[in-house]
Amino acid sequence: MKTKSYVILALTVGLGPTLIARAEEPAGATNAPIQNVQLFSQLMAEGRAAFPQVCAGCHGPQASGKVGPALRKNLKEIRGAVKVVVNGRNQMPPVGGTLSDREIAAILTYIRNSWDNRYGLVTEEDVHEFRKPVGF
Ligand code: HEC
Repeated sequence: MKTKSYVILALTVGLGPTLIARAEEPAGATNAPIQNVQLFSQLMAEGRAAFPQVCAGCHGPQASGKVGPALRKNLKEIRGAVKVVVNGRNQMPPVGGTLSDREIAAILTYIRNSWDNRYGLVTEEDVHEFRKPVGF
């Protein structure tokens, strides 16, 4: 009995902040202040290295558009950006099978925070969550 209530307490305490954060920030919300500066700069560096190799061929080295569209205001929503990268869309090939959550998080963080884009961090957890085929 005791154990059970500890488990429930632990779950409540653990999930509480997550649920509150979710309630305040709908899925895919953006423009949250960057709190984890170290993670942000690591993801930016990884994304900066990967983007020219996997995305720039179609979107341009500055992501100002080529075969694929410019990557600017269309990146605000995290869920949509993760979905299109993971699953592809029309002429955009899916990369979900070849890139890890971390690699996708890094590339999305990079493109959402370069060239005057200021949309904030995309974490591995975001990619993991939005990669799932739920909520299409
Ligand atoms: C083979 C060319 C190609 C490559 C490689 C490619 N894209 Fe795309 N991308 C496209 C095209 C074309 C579209 C427009 C899709 C459509 O018509 O719906 C697109 C759409 C997008 C969108 C949605 C933009 C919008 O306006 O809705 C995002 C975000 C995106 N690409 C990011 C990426 C990222 C990040 C990479 C690298 C991992 C990448 N793309 C690689 C061609 C490409």
